[in-house]
Amino acid sequence: MTPTSSSPWRLSVAPMLDWTDRHCRYFHRLLTRHTRLYTEMVTTGALLHGDVARHLDFNEEEHPVALQLGGSEPEDLAACAKLAQQWGYDEVNLNCGCPSERVQRGAFGACLMAEPRLVADCVKAMRDAVDLPVTVKHRIGIDRIESYEFVRDFVGTVAEAGCEVFIVHARNAWLQGLSPKENREVPPLRYELVHRLKREFPQLTIALNGGITADAQIEEQLQLLDGVMVGREAYHNPYAMAGWDARFFGDAHAVPDRDAVEEAMVRYCERMAAQGIPWPHVMRHVLGLRNGLPGARKWRQVWSDHRLKGEPPRKVHGLALQALRPALHAA
Ligand SMILES: Cc1cc2nc3c(=O)[nH]c(=O)nc-3n(C[C@H](O)[C@H](O)[C@H](O)COP(=O)(O)O)c2cc1C
Repeated sequence: MTPTSSSPWRLSVAPMLDWTDRHCRYFHRLLTRHTRLYTEMVTTGALLHGDVARHLDFNEEEHPVALQLGGSEPEDLAACAKLAQQWGYDEVNLNCGCPSERVQRGAFGACLMAEPRLVADCVKAMRDAVDLPVTVKHRIGIDRIESYEFVRDFVGTVAEAGCEVFIVHARNAWLQGLSPKENREVPPLRYELVHRLKREFPQLTIALNGGITADAQIEEQLQLLDGVMVGREAYHNPYAMAGWDARFFGDAHAVPDRDAVEEAMVRYCERMAAQGIPWPHVMRHVLGLRNGLPGARKWRQVWSDHRLKGEPPRKVHGLALQALRPALHAA
């Protein structure tokens, strides 16, 4: 165990728009009790002028859970942070890393890295409004600014406003010419800049994000940093998280096997159906549960078959297990 092992940011699943909704987080929580979970980004506009409950409702089981906000108006962000506190979130995180054009038009996300003083004002306004930790997720640079000093000055300025936790996606955001997807793949990862931040700001909590796909990498980064945030790999290969509590939190409680997790999700689907939420909204997040195992493809085809969407989840579950069975016998 490293000296930082007790940090609440030791391990987390990244905020992912359209992916880490409350159903997805409920599923992830069945696999790991201690990993911190993040919502999708919610914009201040959506919260202040839209349906607050739709954006903020979550299941009690999800704790610890952080709300990620997108915005750049200190007053609006402060009002949204208050809502997060009222709703019972454990943290408010400000998105300074999203490169999408829609977000750039709103002048927030990654383009905020060019305005560290504004980010500092946003952080201060939120901290003044709530008792929750206010954290920032950002990149190491924007466009072709490759210098370490750029991200160092960003972190330094925002830390002066009281931010103590920085989650660093260790690649630049190229604001023109790349789609958001390409912006998660093309700009090179440079973990050494994040390590340098931790060395220069030892009092801050610094977590690394970007390109982590194996437990051994998490372990390696935790030797140098306070935390690791995993995005796509956690979503696509969720059962890998079943080993995290024992390996990274020293909590070797029994973890449900895949069949038990699926059964729990079917019961959750039944509860959601009573609230008018169709099971495909839930089960789309679960499709990676059996990845790499015999029969996984056929099993996944059943759970993603839209012709079955009118059927009760219990029945679809039966069909999915039937699809799995021949592969199990052959194995
Ligand atoms: C589908 C998708 C949606 C994302 N949405 C957000 C978002 O809402 N807020 C955010 O800060 N990052 C978002 N990201 C970026 C991730 O949080 C993370 O920084 C990125 O995927 C790199 O980590 P990874 O290599 O572990 O996936 C998104 C990524 C994906 C794949």
